[in-house]
Amino acid sequence: QPTSIAIIGSLNIDFITRTKRMPAAGETLAALSFDTGFGGKGANQAVACARLAPKDVRVSMVGNVGDDIFGADYFAGLGKEGIDTSCVRKLSGQKTGIANIIVEEETGENRILITANANFAFEKVVSAEWDLVPKGAGMVVFQLEIPLEVVLHNMKKASESGKHVILNPAPALLLPDFAYQDIDTLIMNETESEILAGRFDESKNHQKLTPEELAPLFLRWGVKEAVIITLGSEGLVYVTASGASGRVPARKVKVVDTTAAGDTFVGAYAVQRVRHAGGPFDYQSALDFASLAASKSVEKAGAMAAIPYLADL
Ligand code: RIB
Ligand code: NA
Repeated sequence: QPTSIAIIGSLNIDFITRTKRMPAAGETLAALSFDTGFGGKGANQAVACARLAPKDVRVSMVGNVGDDIFGADYFAGLGKEGIDTSCVRKLSGQKTGIANIIVEEETGENRILITANANFAFEKVVSAEWDLVPKGAGMVVFQLEIPLEVVLHNMKKASESGKHVILNPAPALLLPDFAYQDIDTLIMNETESEILAGRFDESKNHQKLTPEELAPLFLRWGVKEAVIITLGSEGLVYVTASGASGRVPARKVKVVDTTAAGDTFVGAYAVQRVRHAGGPFDYQSALDFASLAASKSVEKAGAMAAIPYLADL
């Protein structure tokens, strides 16, 4: 039976504007360029899996698009990547999700505004349409760009049927305590880890916990296998339930655009992890592979367009 990863999450169309600097309130500024592309954290992670996995790993995307031109394009786009789209639903009367992304040339940093549209089109009460986990998947990857209740429901289902559950809690929000016991691997950036831990404080008035202090918290709350906190140019910190822990440094790169670097990391780690299901697993080298993939994505403009292929590494 082939190894199979399912990504349950968002599909967006990205409207990407590059600018020398961000306009101030009330200011009109000429931009450097504009592009549209496929995006959304779910679809980006699916594409990262597909581009970075050896041929024997199957990748399927699970999510909603609208019945507009964007939704139609999406099936072709994911198909070209070799991704199974049989669990992508095209919802009539809905628009496809949109992300307005502004990238600042000087820093490579982005600001993103999302309109969820079809990504949030689920019945308000639990119904059969909430059951999204494909039977054949050995691993299921989630983010938080679809309704939290739908994520929690499906993490439980996936976990109960013995699948490896990865959660990338982005964009971050406080999770209920019971959520953690359904997660095998938790992958997030530093800000997200502070929000989940209830330690996020914009004024930075409290005593900041280091990532090394924060990561084990989530294992105590129930995460079953590993907690990974990415730190951008500072690399990452990880800790596992089996007692392994450490820091993996990041490569020095010229930052062009950090959009989807996190998604690339998650997809790259997922393909490493799923291939070693059951057997011994070298966290350090898998994390280094994911970090290398993410660093490649930062050197290129765009979200999905910047995700590297196995041959690029
Ligand atoms: O993580 C990057 C993604 O976030 C973009 O592709 C955009 O669609 C937003 O969802
Ligand atoms: Na990029």
